[in-house]
Amino acid sequence: MSQALIDQARGVMEGNDRGTYTVPTHGLYPFQWNWDSALSALGFSHFDMDRAWVEVETLMAHQWDDGMVPHIIFHEPDDGYFPGPNVWQTRRDVPTTGITQPAVAGFALRKLYDRTEDKAVARERLAKLLPKVHAWHKWFYRDRDPKSTGLVAIIHPWESGRDNSVDWDEGLDAVPIEGIAPFTRRDTTHANPDHRPSDEQYKCYIWLVEYFRGLGWDNAKLHDASPFCLVDPGFNGILIRSCDDVADLAEFLGDPSMASEARAMATKGRAALESLWNPTLGQYTCYNRAAGHLQDTPSIGGLLAAIADVPHARADALARRIALLAERCGYLVPSHDPIDGAFDSLRYWRGPTWLIVNYLIAEGLGRSEQGAMAQRILADSLRLIEKSGFAEYYDPNSGEPCGGGDFTWTAAMVIEILKNQKVPA
Ligand code: GLC
Repeated sequence: MSQALIDQARGVMEGNDRGTYTVPTHGLYPFQWNWDSALSALGFSHFDMDRAWVEVETLMAHQWDDGMVPHIIFHEPDDGYFPGPNVWQTRRDVPTTGITQPAVAGFALRKLYDRTEDKAVARERLAKLLPKVHAWHKWFYRDRDPKSTGLVAIIHPWESGRDNSVDWDEGLDAVPIEGIAPFTRRDTTHANPDHRPSDEQYKCYIWLVEYFRGLGWDNAKLHDASPFCLVDPGFNGILIRSCDDVADLAEFLGDPSMASEARAMATKGRAALESLWNPTLGQYTCYNRAAGHLQDTPSIGGLLAAIADVPHARADALARRIALLAERCGYLVPSHDPIDGAFDSLRYWRGPTWLIVNYLIAEGLGRSEQGAMAQRILADSLRLIEKSGFAEYYDPNSGEPCGGGDFTWTAAMVIEILKNQKVPA
């Protein structure tokens, strides 16, 4: 059974492989996405190690001079996606967007390095990539945490990777939508509109893009200028973990100065994460930096922070919180608490279960003495695949497939889980 699933997953990945990068899925997402690529590299690493490195190398080749690594790279023109390069206008040779995405590449590189048998080859490739990833992390703490709190903010919901999460509703209330150029969405022609963000949310997304474009995509200005400025525990958790992984890798490469810089960023970030602990909910929650308060939205962002090697008491509480969510749905981990009024089992990040987030939470919990819950999450992930194939995301009650089909990172996670985590299938 598991070999058949691995073969199918490999077929999905190969179908979306464009040679030096993969698209998340044909049609809906026809370019290279940042965190999709880094996580997809983990899938490749089980059957084509060279291709795994190439995926991350292509991504990092499009890093901006200031260190930012963009969220989409528009390698080939494609009218099937909105907003395309003519909306972003970032003036790059190969066009990119002007915002970023979760910094999962450092975490992925650590795994690629560990898995590459020929360490001389791995070191050579790493020596070129690691300074770039480290520069990206430094960019985060410089331009997205100008007051040096230890926590970075996102300035657009798309940066979080959890586009329409309930976490962003309050922040988006502060975004005006007047004056935006008329536009036609393309996502709803590829996927069921009931599974996608609302038109109102889309107007806010586009307003922010036009506003940042008007500021010349100058990252030294954008954080303070943005009406939307949110601190996401999951986003920070991923960055913290990647800083730790970069520190380890820098030690392997014999670069003590990079190692100590990266370790210091991780240590400071981990300490600051504590300020996002929400005792009422028993999980981390987002801090609205523009408004100046901790939110109460019970989303998966606060559970994803488990990736950051949080204190064991916190990991234990997160596992208990997830056990509670398991009583409220059929398939862990719902992206929003099913008993909250804003939960929507079909709509993207407002309820559905996503395999990549499951994998990252399980990875963190497994390292924090919560192996039983980690295994439970991975087992639910495989139940979803067996029931509904390699979808973009799933209804956490029925297990129904939602969004796009034949999804690269979902397939990559299946390979990763089956090959690596040794879950009985
Ligand atoms: C959606 C997801 C985002 C992902 C992208 C491509 O925008 O919210 O996390 O990177 O699709 O799969």
